[in-house]
Amino acid sequence: MTQPATTYKVLFVCLGNICRSPAAEAIFSDYAHKHQLKVTVDSAGTSNWHEGEKADQRMRTHARSRGYDITSLSRPFLPASDFDRFDLIVPMDDQNYYDLRAQARTQDDVDKIMKVSELIKSSSYTYIPDPYYGGASGFDLVIDLLEDVSENLCEYIAAIKHTKGN
Ligand code: 4NP
Repeated sequence: MTQPATTYKVLFVCLGNICRSPAAEAIFSDYAHKHQLKVTVDSAGTSNWHEGEKADQRMRTHARSRGYDITSLSRPFLPASDFDRFDLIVPMDDQNYYDLRAQARTQDDVDKIMKVSELIKSSSYTYIPDPYYGGASGFDLVIDLLEDVSENLCEYIAAIKHTKGN
């Protein structure tokens, strides 16, 4: 009998959860939909500085002009539930990566964290640069890099689902 397709659950994490990771959530959701992948996508911040806020207006405007709708509200990363709820956790830069690793409870938790550099193939960047204190070009760069990340993440998840037969 055919098994129902399992939903793969991805969490993107940055510092404030108002620029990079909400953009990653929106862009990857779009790519996964186009690839017909069954996924759950969310984002969170290593800080709670902007909890409950909409994403940064500049990030939303740049994303909108590229066809992506960012709707999420900022929330902090919650180790006690997020390590259990998600299959894969993708921090946006090395500081985010080490902050998450420091909160891992088990080796299983650590194994769920994937460096974003593994998903960037079309650029020499090894992280998603924080656009918060910079100009407009920083927001477009974030989107360029996250489109590459999203395409490669779709291929990664499709390969897992293929191996598992769903
Ligand atoms: P994000 O960007 O981590 O991509 O959401 C930032 C947002 C806010 C701050 C820093 C980075 N902040 O200092 O408030």
